[in-house]
Amino acid sequence: MKEDVLNFLEVHREDYVSGQDLADQLRVSRAAVWKAIEALRRQGYDIEAKPKKGYRLLGDFDRLSQGGIRKHLSEALRDRQIFIYDSLDSTNTEMKRKLEKNQVRPFDVVLAEEQVQGRGRRGKAFASPKHTGLYMTLLYYKEGEGNLEDQDLITIKAALAVLRAVKKTTGLEAKIKWVNDLFLANKKFCGILTEGEFNLENREISAIYTGIGINIRMPEEGFGSDLEKIATALNVDLLRNDLAGEIISQLYFLKGQDRKEVIRAYKEASLVLGRKISFNYQGQDLVGRAKDINDQGHLLVDLSGQTLTLKAGEISIRGDFS
Ligand code: BTN
Repeated sequence: MKEDVLNFLEVHREDYVSGQDLADQLRVSRAAVWKAIEALRRQGYDIEAKPKKGYRLLGDFDRLSQGGIRKHLSEALRDRQIFIYDSLDSTNTEMKRKLEKNQVRPFDVVLAEEQVQGRGRRGKAFASPKHTGLYMTLLYYKEGEGNLEDQDLITIKAALAVLRAVKKTTGLEAKIKWVNDLFLANKKFCGILTEGEFNLENREISAIYTGIGINIRMPEEGFGSDLEKIATALNVDLLRNDLAGEIISQLYFLKGQDRKEVIRAYKEASLVLGRKISFNYQGQDLVGRAKDINDQGHLLVDLSGQTLTLKAGEISIRGDFS
């Protein structure tokens, strides 16, 4: 009930909503609406009450809510489930649990205010402190529900979706470090971990979900000295609901987009093309120039005249070639 009132106010953030309208929409008494408003105020929500006009959600109290996210979704996505938790081990792990219980469909999302076991790539931890980041996992594909022609482009599409959503909600122009780290001023503010399930009986992928972690604000205690050199946050006023809703919408749009167009946009946003990079290839430490990205999203690296194709892995940027 409290959640429903909050959702309604969130969707109509700019307008006053009368107590009667709220009561009618939610099929409850006006007294119940009043009680819910009071409870929300006690939680810290700034809700204005104006005689003859009604209630209005004020301020930028940046709490994740279904209504605040859903209002960004097109008709095609309106019925998707949005699960929001105060605290989780990891939104990716929760998505896996929901899949096992068959509780989710493609483009359902799981979000958490904090993760206590946030996971990064290559077994690393992903620091996910309360309220300062956006931690979400979206189910991209599920066996029997839609096709999987773009399996190789999912992480690229997720990175582009974040890039576009960040631009739309903050005006900031981010760059993508191959494959799917997002950078602002040469520091990372977003990482993406895409995972899947495999059906051993028919030897096919049964599900793919993509987990997105964005540093929105600097945590009060900072990132810690090691991370500080390489990590940053968006550091602008924004509502995480707006960003999350935009990411889901952008990813839905990109899912249906032509491969060539996706790669063209991805190349345009690349932080690495033309630059000197180092990487480990089959046990060898190599240095070369990132020269192109092919239609499969692979990185083509020039090694003194020879071209090497990197399909996956980690690269480091060493500098610019003049
Ligand atoms: C990386 O940069 O190594 C990937 C980081 C991915 C972090 C996100 S936060 C939401 C989702 N849940 C997790 O445990 N990890 C991903």
